[in-house]
Amino acid sequence: MSDRLKGKNIIVTGASGGIGAEIARQCAECGANLALLARSLDKLQLLKKELETHYAVTIHVYELDVSDTDKVEGVFSKIKSELGPIDVLVNNAGFGVFREAHEANLDEIKGMFNVNVIGLIACTLMVLPEMRARRSGHIINIASQAGKIATPKSSIYSATKHAVLGYTNSLRMESADSNVFVTAINPGPIATNFFEIADEKGTYVKSVQKFMLQPEYVARKVVDAMLTPTREINLPRWMNMGSVIFALFPRLFEGIGKRAFDKK
Ligand SMILES: NC(=O)c1ccc[n+]([C@@H]2O[C@H](COP(=O)([O-])OP(=O)(O)OC[C@H]3O[C@@H](n4cnc5c(N)ncnc54)[C@H](OP(=O)(O)O)[C@@H]3O)[C@@H](O)[C@H]2O)c1
Repeated sequence: MSDRLKGKNIIVTGASGGIGAEIARQCAECGANLALLARSLDKLQLLKKELETHYAVTIHVYELDVSDTDKVEGVFSKIKSELGPIDVLVNNAGFGVFREAHEANLDEIKGMFNVNVIGLIACTLMVLPEMRARRSGHIINIASQAGKIATPKSSIYSATKHAVLGYTNSLRMESADSNVFVTAINPGPIATNFFEIADEKGTYVKSVQKFMLQPEYVARKVVDAMLTPTREINLPRWMNMGSVIFALFPRLFEGIGKRAFDKK
């Protein structure tokens, strides 16, 4: 554990559970001050209590649905007045529903795009101009391996994560001259509550259980990359080979992979 994050101000969206809560724990251990956001204020308050018991850091919690863009500006203004300039924003809030494209309904589709894409962009806009002006800061977007390879039953989720990666890659190039770091995190399946919504029937979880990542491990990779010019993190690394092969031989990949992907 380095001192790099000591006294830094870090925002984590979707911090009430899963990898967001774990990122918060590990940042607090490194001595960072935190603004934790999610819809479940009760869970955030419990986490704040846990972290303040163990570490001498300042933790602020805020109830925010990131897709409610009318409220995003107010919450971020409050964060900045309570915490000060933001060093790192982790755009982690997100969800998926695994369903075939022909079964998807428009409310669900808009919901996923509004949280995973529009919400992420709205939060980014709240810190980006100041980071550029200060010539320092880091935006970390939690995308997914689903942003690199689309598989059956995740057309909408995958489309949102492809959008996140498109946005992130452009933002990184734009931000290079102002010394603002931009990183994409692309994990494969992680053992979190994500699948309670994504995989109602539990079939996907069953077939990927053996190589599910632990949230503590993913969070460690994210925290270790903070305030370093890391382009992208792909986890597990072998899974990224799939996207390399897909880019080179898409037809072959889809043909061979179909049977495995259909297990979803
Ligand atoms: N688990 C995986 O296999 C996996 C793999 C690759 C990428 N990811 C990505 O990793 C991120 C975190 O997922 P996770 O696995 O940690 O899932 P999780 O355990 O379900 O946690 C999701 C977090 O996002 C928050 N959230 C959901 N909708 C929100 C909204 N509208 N506004 C604000 N916060 C919201 C939830 O809090 P509230 O419900 O309290 O709002 C929760 O804190 C997501 O972006 C997900 O797409 C997950």
